[in-house]
Amino acid sequence: MNIQQLLSDKIKHAMVLAGVPADCDALVKQSAKVQFGDYQANGIMAAAKKMAMNPRQLAEQVVKHIALDDCISHVEIAGPGFINLFLNATWIAKQNTLALNDPKLNLTLADKPQNIIVDYSAPNVAKEMHVGHLRSTIIGDASVRVLAFLGHHVIRANHVGDWGTQFGMLIAYLEKMQNENANDMALADLEVFYRTAKKHYDEDPVFAEKARGYVVKLQSGDEYCRSMWRKLVDITMSQNLATYRRLNVTLSLEDTMGESIYNAMLPAVVADLKQQGIAVESEGATVVFLDEFKNKEGEPMGVIVQKRDGGYLYATTDIAAIKYRYEHYHANRILYYTDSRQHQHLEQVWLIAHKAGYIPPSLQLEHHMFGMMLGKDGKPFKTRSGDTVKLNDLLDEAIERATTLIKSKNPDLNDDELATIADAVAIGAVKYADLSKNRTTDYVFDWDNMLSFEGNTAPYLQYAYTRVLSIFRKAGLSIDNLTGDILLEYEKERALALKLSQFNEIVLSVANDGVPHMLCAYLYEIATLFSSFYEHCPVLSADSDQSKNSRLQLAALSAKTLKVGLDMLGIKTIEKM
Ligand code: ARG
Repeated sequence: MNIQQLLSDKIKHAMVLAGVPADCDALVKQSAKVQFGDYQANGIMAAAKKMAMNPRQLAEQVVKHIALDDCISHVEIAGPGFINLFLNATWIAKQNTLALNDPKLNLTLADKPQNIIVDYSAPNVAKEMHVGHLRSTIIGDASVRVLAFLGHHVIRANHVGDWGTQFGMLIAYLEKMQNENANDMALADLEVFYRTAKKHYDEDPVFAEKARGYVVKLQSGDEYCRSMWRKLVDITMSQNLATYRRLNVTLSLEDTMGESIYNAMLPAVVADLKQQGIAVESEGATVVFLDEFKNKEGEPMGVIVQKRDGGYLYATTDIAAIKYRYEHYHANRILYYTDSRQHQHLEQVWLIAHKAGYIPPSLQLEHHMFGMMLGKDGKPFKTRSGDTVKLNDLLDEAIERATTLIKSKNPDLNDDELATIADAVAIGAVKYADLSKNRTTDYVFDWDNMLSFEGNTAPYLQYAYTRVLSIFRKAGLSIDNLTGDILLEYEKERALALKLSQFNEIVLSVANDGVPHMLCAYLYEIATLFSSFYEHCPVLSADSDQSKNSRLQLAALSAKTLKVGLDMLGIKTIEKM
């Protein structure tokens, strides 16, 4: 049940009955303070302005038409014309019961499932994933999970950088390695492999000549070069797959839709852009000039789609990709998870695809961009020697730190238990640190903060979850199959119950806007509200069986909400820690 939506509809209806034009919004929001009710409608002021009326008077008119029912207990007009809405506790309790009895927690599923392409992760072949790919992978995967949960048809598009002139040099170097030691071990460390290949290319003219030859051969489909290229792609992707597994990310090899698959489309796309008069020859290259983007001189900006030497560019591939995604998957929405520096690139690609008629205006294109990951010094996150941090090293360190921490808190765990908990906490902490920050800004990577058991962190939420389970363990009860009425007699009960009933709204925001930090903030609120409820309202030693049973249900729904929410974020829960 989406309460915000339900109340919006009700207030909107009352507004229309009070003579407010139909295009005025009720603007119903959760109230920031209890004295302002549970929700408030803020749309009256704007409507009054439009109607040249006194807003308070209009509010009074509207209020007369609000039907008090089992949901709304009473309303109040506040300030210049806000309408504060108070919900019935029994109705809130009923929503909790409905959620408790549904494996999907009574969340509103998509009535019209969409085809949604999520373009994320996208590492580059023969290179290690770096922290930028980490952000894209983690945030993108949370969106994927939420959209799939709601019943959308999600297509994970891992737009891997697996094509380009660098492959000549990489093939030549792989060949050299194979000739020298007859195995592929050199690829175990991709970063070193790439760097050494580049060094040979820069310093050895014979090698460079061979590499350039291989580029041409690869592009013309030469079998030997193709198979060497495949080897490079396969080794890289199997390493990435291991990282995805470690990170509890849902990407699999089938989701790899690298740049190479669009390669065959590029000549036709460029020819078509030219034929339509969208692209023109300019100094030997093929360029699309866009009036909508101006360069430093104030002239239309040129996007090169084919270089003078015939080579294609990152933009050309993205134009082909969008065309393909629309034609092949009938995409309704495409979400791109890349850092903010690629924003202009994407906007230009979208504009060109629109101008060329490759996609209809109805296709929703969204760049869910993010800022950079910074070190504690506020500079881009690097190792002490200034190198980029390898993802696997970062995760190793997380596991090491979490193991020490968990061991000190709980010295009696056996090795298996310790390993399972440390893994959930370590990976959870790294992911949550990223997910819990508004993605549009840079964020500071700080081990101590993210592994703390206090505050808005993964360990805090994971621990809160185990605390609820331990109540049930102690009572010898299961969190499933609880029955009976939920009673909201105390303020702490009501506050927790209300928050639990608002899960739907948060999940929808994540689905619509790709804002996992809002889900994090919500789960954190559930955990803190549960904690103060538990402190003030004894569960197992409640005054009556009825009250005990009711509180057990609130506890059970808190645990289930935490679990489903953390699952959506790709964060594991454990039973004990
Ligand atoms: N491989 C690119 C990079 O490492 C990211 C690709 C993002 N997706 C896209 N359709 N351009 O920067």
